[in-house]
Amino acid sequence: MRFPILAAALLCAPVATALPADCRDKGAGCTLAETAAQAGFWIGAAIDAPPEPAAEAIYPAQFNSVTAENAHKWGPLSDGLGRYDFSRGDQVVAFAEANGARVRGHTLFWGRGPLPADLAGQIAAAPDPAGRAREILVEHVGAVVGHYAGRIHSWDVVNEPLDFFTGNPDPNIMFRQLGIDYIGEAFRAAHAADPGAQLFLNEFFQDYQGEKARAFLSLAADLLAEGVPIHGVGIQGHISPGPDQLMPPDPAAFQAFLAELAALGLAVEITELDVSIFFFRGAADPLAEQARVYGELVGACIAVPACQGVTLWGIEDGDTWLDRTFPSSVVAPNRPLLFDEDLEPKPAWFATRDAIAGRIVPEPGTGALVLIGIAILGGRHRERGRETG
Ligand code: XIL
Repeated sequence: MRFPILAAALLCAPVATALPADCRDKGAGCTLAETAAQAGFWIGAAIDAPPEPAAEAIYPAQFNSVTAENAHKWGPLSDGLGRYDFSRGDQVVAFAEANGARVRGHTLFWGRGPLPADLAGQIAAAPDPAGRAREILVEHVGAVVGHYAGRIHSWDVVNEPLDFFTGNPDPNIMFRQLGIDYIGEAFRAAHAADPGAQLFLNEFFQDYQGEKARAFLSLAADLLAEGVPIHGVGIQGHISPGPDQLMPPDPAAFQAFLAELAALGLAVEITELDVSIFFFRGAADPLAEQARVYGELVGACIAVPACQGVTLWGIEDGDTWLDRTFPSSVVAPNRPLLFDEDLEPKPAWFATRDAIAGRIVPEPGTGALVLIGIAILGGRHRERGRETG
């Protein structure tokens, strides 16, 4: 059964609040979170467990959404099959709740990510390896989603289902046992454990018109056609140097891809955005170029109504996985985020905020109020004119 996206959007969308400032006005001094609240948009960041000082300093003013950078992945949660330590994951969720932010759960199954050490051995040793793989996957998804039921707004159920470059499936341990059906199994188990959670398929792309992007569209369409409870798709959005060639994309192609996904009836989010400064090293003003790319990517999301949020993969430039992870670590500092090491907003912060402001719809009656205001001021002006004239 398909998830009623519209009903979910009405129930779960960030509430547009009437703040004194109109965040469409760049001079109003709105923060990211204030702008996002008026736009009915999620703006988030990946944080650690326990939350780092930068998170404590910047929430809730700047972000209304939280993702655990690692704490909800299978390996960090579970050092052995069926054994869970939720303490770090719980810290992230409690931090979000204390700051009035929603949680994007990341991620229930990631074939390239950290997995319990005994997973492969347990499957291999079972008399029916495929049956055991299915059982383990369903139990894991049920345990984690069940633990957080009602507290996690959306889950990346499966992360990176496709090969690095081609449209082939990622040949991970679950695919090898179950074929592509492992994806539907994971989504069904998640839906059973928390029917209110939005369930996402998350992926990265080198370009948004190539074979991999087409394959992802087909995969999402197939899952929908099979009645799998999938509600959204996440586009990671890492822009970083390395063999996976994650270059700044053509903005029109990026937006067209988001629109194609939305046309399937799915919600869309940019889930792991960071933009390495490496690509602009020859430019006169690299930070301005970086801001341009941020404006293009966030602007593309804003232009597609079903695109409901953007998550940055970190908070400040002094603490980014790109500087810690080969090969992008070779060109560190990547300075890929919205705040510098002193938590000062960068040009990319302004570009992001201004792009989000493009989603703000004037409150009903605002136009009439403005007209009344103009009429009153005009009247006073005329009276003053009579007095002085
Ligand atoms: C990364 C984390 O940021 C690192 O701290 C960790 O060492 C590896 O994973 N795509 C994803 C994220 O979906 O989960 C990854 O996060 C970055 C790439």
